[in-house]
Amino acid sequence: MHTKQLDQYVGQEVTVKGWVANKRESKTVVFINLRDGRGICQCILGVEEIGEDLFAVAKSLGQESSIAVTGKVVADERQIGGYEIHATTVEVYQNAKDYPISNKEHGVDFLVDNRHLWLRSRRQWAIMRVRNAITYAIHNFFQAEGFVQMDAPIFTGNAAEGTTDLFETDYYGKPAYLTQSGQLYGEAMAMAMGKIYTFGPTFRAEKSKTRRHLSEFWMIEPEMAFCDIFENMDTIEAFLRAVVQEVIAKCPEELEVLGRDISKLETVAKPFPRLSYDEAVEILKGQTEVNGQNSLTVIQADLDAAIARQAECEAEIAEREAAIAAGGMKKGAINFNQNKIDSLKNEIKQLEEDQRNLPQWLASARDFTYGNDFGGSDETVLTRLFDLPIMVYDWPHEIKAFYMKRNPEDPRFARGVDVLAPEGYGEIVGGGERETSEEWLVEKIQEHKLPMDVFQWYLDLRRYGSVPHSGFGLGLERLVAWVCKLDHVRETIPFPRYYGRLEP
Ligand code: 4AD
Ligand code: MG
Repeated sequence: MHTKQLDQYVGQEVTVKGWVANKRESKTVVFINLRDGRGICQCILGVEEIGEDLFAVAKSLGQESSIAVTGKVVADERQIGGYEIHATTVEVYQNAKDYPISNKEHGVDFLVDNRHLWLRSRRQWAIMRVRNAITYAIHNFFQAEGFVQMDAPIFTGNAAEGTTDLFETDYYGKPAYLTQSGQLYGEAMAMAMGKIYTFGPTFRAEKSKTRRHLSEFWMIEPEMAFCDIFENMDTIEAFLRAVVQEVIAKCPEELEVLGRDISKLETVAKPFPRLSYDEAVEILKGQTEVNGQNSLTVIQADLDAAIARQAECEAEIAEREAAIAAGGMKKGAINFNQNKIDSLKNEIKQLEEDQRNLPQWLASARDFTYGNDFGGSDETVLTRLFDLPIMVYDWPHEIKAFYMKRNPEDPRFARGVDVLAPEGYGEIVGGGERETSEEWLVEKIQEHKLPMDVFQWYLDLRRYGSVPHSGFGLGLERLVAWVCKLDHVRETIPFPRYYGRLEP
């Protein structure tokens, strides 16, 4: 019996087991929000119904105490979940005291230190369920399309994406690396199966503390034989559309808890704009407009709006503080005003950060040097003019991985494609068409100063039945962050690993 089944038991007696998420009390009644993992249900424990002794116990329950409540199910649409339980008895597994995470605001570092407990909070509950729904939707899509799921090794002898961010380990006295990507193995398997996808952990030793980087993250890497970059882009687009639409359909409650504006996700129904690197650079630098809008002008307007909004917030805080200071206000009204003031102060913090960032983003976009990779802020500026993911393809070959196919019509470019999510989330997918020529690959392996011997097996794939093939990698945490509109990827994975963080 769980809280999501209550609709089938209206008027009947049930037992629900869970944890005390919240408790308030009056002289004769204790109200408990019982959290059972599936949902939350208000339980009403009246002294008349449960008796003096149990009532004293109920009153003593601390947050996160584990209990079983038995009582009658009553429909009440004002209540969270739409039902409540009028208890006839309560059984206590453990009465928990001094739970460290209260319903007040806590600093992020404190919450991450207590990640093992933080996972129980309502927002984290919603995020983990969205992650689960995304995982399920990913398998649904690929399985329906005839892809075979494969597991690539985690210990590897070679780099896939470059040597700078490898985690080295000792493998029976020889150096080995934690995998950065299963792609190269995926290519081998695609030549055996036609279409495959990996879904596994990947590791990058990046000493960066951005909101997009983890040291351990989960990547989904499909690989398709007889597929060029344009068919690859068709697959990426159909895939992201199907996954996001499935999550919208399956997670309305979770997305509501997160306050997610679903209309911002529903745009995936439209065709994803495809831009060459050259076109993207022109948009970034404000040299080409999109729907009559110039990226630099729009970012400047965002900056002006942030300045104006901060002044508004400050004025409202002063007004509310003066009203409280004038005296004669009821306690409830004071609390209400104080909450408003706190949330305005939080908004100001964000606005101040915007005012620090936006001028730098503007300068960096304006001065962008052709031939460079886009930085995080460039991605944000570029995507500001779009309300759905965009795909940037045909990159200068020097900045892409050794395995990328060169555009036969213009070998300055490699046939890579990056998908950039809207709302400032940046790159969520990287992929492309793979080089088929052994000769060109050997040249690239040398150019990237990679050890030739460990790539012999990979070169075999070009010696025996080489075919055009393509694939991509989706960073699961980056997708979850965008779908949930989170500030940082650390909230998208149960126990995040990033620079400086190995516990809990
Ligand atoms: O662009 P990347 O490095 O591409 C590859 O690894 C290719 N082998 C994929 C392929 O074609 N099969 O990484 C792919 C995606 C990025 O777009 C991003 O979403 C995610 O993986 N990613 C990270 N996510 C979190 N933390 C990090 N440090 C990440 N690095 C990459
Ligand atoms: Mg990339």
